[in-house]
Amino acid sequence: MKLGIIGSGNIVSEFLSFVENIKNIELVAIYGREKSIDKLYDIKNNSKIKKIYTEYNQLLLDDDIDTIYVALPNNLHFDFAEKGLLSGKNVILEKPFVQTMAEFKALQKIAQEKNLHLYEAISNQYSPNFKKITQWINEIGDIRLVSLNYSQLSSRYAKFKTGNVLPAFNFKTGGGALQDLNVYNLHLLTGLFGNPRKVNYTYNFVENVDTSGILTLEYPNFISNAIAGKDVFSIKNGVNFIEGDKGYISIDRPTNDISVISLHTENGIDTVRLPEQHRMFYEFETFANKIEINDLNFMNKMLEHSQMVMEILTTVKKQIQNDYPEK
Ligand SMILES: NC(=O)c1ccc[n+]([C@@H]2O[C@H](COP(=O)([O-])OP(=O)(O)OC[C@H]3O[C@@H](n4cnc5c(N)ncnc54)[C@H](OP(=O)(O)O)[C@@H]3O)[C@@H](O)[C@H]2O)c1
Repeated sequence: MKLGIIGSGNIVSEFLSFVENIKNIELVAIYGREKSIDKLYDIKNNSKIKKIYTEYNQLLLDDDIDTIYVALPNNLHFDFAEKGLLSGKNVILEKPFVQTMAEFKALQKIAQEKNLHLYEAISNQYSPNFKKITQWINEIGDIRLVSLNYSQLSSRYAKFKTGNVLPAFNFKTGGGALQDLNVYNLHLLTGLFGNPRKVNYTYNFVENVDTSGILTLEYPNFISNAIAGKDVFSIKNGVNFIEGDKGYISIDRPTNDISVISLHTENGIDTVRLPEQHRMFYEFETFANKIEINDLNFMNKMLEHSQMVMEILTTVKKQIQNDYPEK
């Protein structure tokens, strides 16, 4: 995969901390705004990135690049991804994918028409522990309760409290606890159990945004809740349980990570702890491999999964907009 990185924020720093461990990713270029040129040079000088672009269209003309990784604020995902696909590039798009179903459908259509890869960068779907959980689910009997909680005091919360609202706390531009954090719980739940038959959201709404909230999702034979807070000092390890009448599975890390999981039954406790590796390693390793062998069936399967999450997010966002029509 010959990669162009779009953006130079926090998640790009994290990405660069492990990407050299993936053998078939070549870092061709990074794009950022002219005003951030010093930061772009710093990043280039400390990585194997070869080129800098401050004009997005110029990067898209670069034939050395076959794939772009869009790591920009949520409200910019669609435009940058659409331009990327129209220029013939595969696109890896940060979570949450896009803002509306119309945007989702538009990107899906272009990708499928042009036989391009389009992925949502969502770590838990690609972790080896995701597969392990699906196997363990057969050992815990009838599932009755699932509860997931990914809460993390946002590094931007102090500024938010003083009135400085950064994109992560701007509901209109795709911020808030639902889209920023609860999206991981949603991916995990729907990846394991498919579409719920009913969804409801209760939430703390402060200064036009859901700073924390609880999703209740009903499945035919069990109920689940998915909690996320950007405004709470929360424990670092996960507090996530899938409970059945013969045992339960605990996910002992936040749901964006799932690197430690345990099966608890009358036979004892079985724990899987993945080797030390950045939580995003597995997704990018998979993207690079699937692009290399051009496995479009796999890509379409993952796109269907993202669609399920997008549909739930869209429904819940409508609920918020109905609750606060004046905002
Ligand atoms: N997968 C994960 O674990 C994970 C974790 C955190 C975030 N994310 C996702 O990653 C994305 C980025 O988050 P982040 O935390 O990295 O954000 P961030 O630190 O605020 O960085 C945002 C980047 O976007 C650039 N940018 C902002 N407005 C722009 C514009 N109009 N045109 C071009 N570039 C623009 C900024 O450039 P300047 O430097 O010029 O301002 C900066 O490089 C979000 O979608 C977020 O949901 C994913």
